[in-house]
Amino acid sequence: MCGIIGYIGKKPAQPILLNGLKRLEYRGYDSSGMALILSEKDTISIRKSPGKISSLEKLLSKKPLSGNAGIAHTRWATHGAPTQENAHPHFDCKEEIAIVHNGIIENYVQLKKDLVKEGHKFNSQTDTEVIAHLIEKYYKNSVALEDAVRKALSKLTGSFAIAVISKREQDKIVGARLGSPLVVGVGAGENFLASDVPAFLEHAKDVIFLDDNELVVLTSQEARVSKVSGEPVNKSVTRINWDVSQAQKQGYPHFMLKEINEQSRVLDAMIIRRTDKDKQIFFDELELGPDIFKNTNNIIIVACGTAYHAGMCGEYILEELCKMRVSVDLSSEFRYRDPQILPGTLIIAISQSGETADTLAAVREARKKGATILSICNVLGSTLVRESDGVIYTLAGPEIGVASTKAYTAQVATLYLLGLYMARLRKSMPQDKINRLFSGLSKCPGLIGEILGKQSEIKNMASRHSHFGSFLFLGRNINYPSACEGALKLKEISYIPAEGYAAGEMKHGPIALIDEYRAVVCIAPASKTYEKMVSNIEEIRSRHGKIIAIATQGDEKIKELTSEVIYVPKVDEFCSALVVAIPLQLLAYYIAIKRGCDVDQPRNLAKSVTVE
Ligand code: AGP
Repeated sequence: MCGIIGYIGKKPAQPILLNGLKRLEYRGYDSSGMALILSEKDTISIRKSPGKISSLEKLLSKKPLSGNAGIAHTRWATHGAPTQENAHPHFDCKEEIAIVHNGIIENYVQLKKDLVKEGHKFNSQTDTEVIAHLIEKYYKNSVALEDAVRKALSKLTGSFAIAVISKREQDKIVGARLGSPLVVGVGAGENFLASDVPAFLEHAKDVIFLDDNELVVLTSQEARVSKVSGEPVNKSVTRINWDVSQAQKQGYPHFMLKEINEQSRVLDAMIIRRTDKDKQIFFDELELGPDIFKNTNNIIIVACGTAYHAGMCGEYILEELCKMRVSVDLSSEFRYRDPQILPGTLIIAISQSGETADTLAAVREARKKGATILSICNVLGSTLVRESDGVIYTLAGPEIGVASTKAYTAQVATLYLLGLYMARLRKSMPQDKINRLFSGLSKCPGLIGEILGKQSEIKNMASRHSHFGSFLFLGRNINYPSACEGALKLKEISYIPAEGYAAGEMKHGPIALIDEYRAVVCIAPASKTYEKMVSNIEEIRSRHGKIIAIATQGDEKIKELTSEVIYVPKVDEFCSALVVAIPLQLLAYYIAIKRGCDVDQPRNLAKSVTVE
């Protein structure tokens, strides 16, 4: 939920840290700061500012920092308002140590009381500042910084990813993690530490992913990893094959619009990558044998937010293709429900970031109860991936916009491919039907490309509806999840109250909401439930609800019910969720733009919810 970065090497650290922060801004953006070791003055100097990173940039242009080693932080406030005092980095009493932190220290109140009693003076309301003073407490005499950090961390409960510098040992940065991500970028004569790879990708593509309870001592020449408790750890180095441009806007006004427009290419590349010359589906990174997919009698999907909506699609997809019981659960509910895990249960954890605290906790709970864990994830080497028995990467490339778009359709497409893969293994469907469904899926990237070619139409429709104070999204069967995702997209970037509902539920309450002040998006592509959707639309129309319909090209009947129709190309009902997602994303995007909202960094949100 916050972004941290550290640099140590021969170059001026300020521009490297500032650019790195900008690449992490999607992780939190209510305040930011930087601390550099100023060797010539034998001191650490800090600059910090409330507001976005541009405010820190302005401050640094007036009061620059020099030095070749430092740490920086962009914040998503958890403890204490987003003020100058609460922005990171934080000092100890003697300003010998500076620290940045991502996570939540659950026992900070008692620790702070004890430290105050021992004479420590605090300047902020944050939990993070407690860590700085705790390190100070143990950083006595000839104790090395990393050993003082180890001692301090042993007193904490909660989650952390930290980076610490000291003016007494100016040749090192100490990092450690528990529950929040931290990666090392290995450069030539320089090293980096960050919450996420894009922060340093232009400088280093060789990465060491730290695991929970690991600590790293970073100098310009090496990265020494050990357990927080002290035992050395051998870590592999992963080569990242993204390039920086993939993490840039490439001419689009917003990352979100860029990522919406990438979907046709992303899905096309994924389907090609996932099929061999005989059109058989395979997942080369899977590391789970076919038996689990052949023999499992129970699949539970766990996820949060948009990934949960993909999981809802997965329930329809996998049940239909594999003829077996599949359920989907919110990670934050699953983990506290004392779930009963039958022998042979396969948990499918869906997460774009692979760092969502609730989904990690759900997976740990399920593993404790004997489940096999398969993760569907977009980030190489993320915590979820490293805690799973098998992984299928969604191959969507870096998703920077806080509102998930291409990762969502990549998750749904991956579930379609997994379902077809399992159907062949389980012989739950004749091969010719599997081939037919695969052929329908293979057409989707091109169909999505056609919709992306009609953005001005959707932009105009968004303008006509941006004044509505609330929206209802309705869908049936696999487009009930589409309705939920369309509502989430709209509410999280335009702040308009919106909810997604199963259309069949209208008469059980929501119809009371319908009047001329409410816009209702009805997802009604050609399908076995089309006529039912038409009935719903007629019920809404008779109560003067303002209807936006998503319908199949050539559907003239729908025009008798509403003039506001977004047509999508004819698509096999089985994979219609992929296609209807695009107009829903564009509608939300253009309504939010019309309302002057910050679509890439919506208020109160962060890209990866790494705290509970
Ligand atoms: C999606 O638009 C939201 N930003 C949010 O709901 C997100 O999907 C959720 O936090 C899960 O994130 P994950 O996929 O990284 O686990």
